[in-house]
Amino acid sequence: MVASSAPGKVYLFGEHAVVYGEPAVPCAIERRARVTVNERDDDALRVHAEDLTLDGFTVEYDGESETTPDVDVSQSLVEAAVGYIEGAVEQARDAADRPDAGFEITVESAIPLGAGLGSSAAVVVAGIDAATRELGVELTARDIADRAFRVEYEVQDGQASRADTFCSAVGGAVRVEGEDCRAIESVPNLPFVIGYDGGAGDTGELVAGVRALREEYDFAADTVETIGDIVRAGEAALADGDLAEIGRLMDFNHGLLSALGVSARSLDEMVWAARQSDALGAKLTGAGGGGCIVALDRTDGAETALKYTPGCETTFRAELDADGVRVEEP
Ligand code: MEV
Repeated sequence: MVASSAPGKVYLFGEHAVVYGEPAVPCAIERRARVTVNERDDDALRVHAEDLTLDGFTVEYDGESETTPDVDVSQSLVEAAVGYIEGAVEQARDAADRPDAGFEITVESAIPLGAGLGSSAAVVVAGIDAATRELGVELTARDIADRAFRVEYEVQDGQASRADTFCSAVGGAVRVEGEDCRAIESVPNLPFVIGYDGGAGDTGELVAGVRALREEYDFAADTVETIGDIVRAGEAALADGDLAEIGRLMDFNHGLLSALGVSARSLDEMVWAARQSDALGAKLTGAGGGGCIVALDRTDGAETALKYTPGCETTFRAELDADGVRVEEP
């Protein structure tokens, strides 16, 4: 039996634009998905998933059956989560050259599904690591990132960048531009505060919406390129440790994501609540449409303001997680 975990992430800058080759800077956070894998005697796959939202639920999913789990998130999100696990298993079978290997898999996650915190990337990264190790093969974090990207790409119908999966595999703050993925070696202490509206967005649909806007309007294509400019300015601010500038650029980035139609009323309300407290800046994180915002705040102000924001279900502080995928005690 092998257990591995991998972190979720927030986007400091650059989601959506990264799909079109602009750079992005996601940062791993100390909220993990943990996948435990046991090889079976036959070639079947059984998945037990627990705590896939902050509220938590348990679903017993048998890859063979059509059963509908009784859960409080949408069926499509659960199916997507299981799709990621099936993809991870395919990658492990391929890496170990064991096409008929069967597994008993348990997924536990402290990262809400579809909320912009990289739950799917964390599950697929941890899943590939645990399943390959269970078959006696050890992949590097970069190999795992590569294989996890292939899974996301397939599950999301070709609408995925390498950002989420690379960040989850290697941890810390990273920079992704097309195929060029690297760790950012030195980052200041980033006081992240997360606001979560309890909802989720459909990444595939949101990415398709931006793609359509970009094709219809030159100024939407320009907006995507401008997000790339913000990311480059953000990298310089990160190198200088200039948190005030990072915050201003986060605000700018949110405005442009909003213009591209991927924000939501609840996300805007949380962003404004954080900004009107002591936050240095705030933006949605991930695909948008619902889910989470990330603010930068050294004080308790943003967390307190978010607690009193009607659209905010939960708020918490998140530390940068320097660790990527790692083996855990089973
Ligand atoms: C989703 O977490 C981030 C997007 O940029 C899509 C991707 O990069 O694959 C919206």
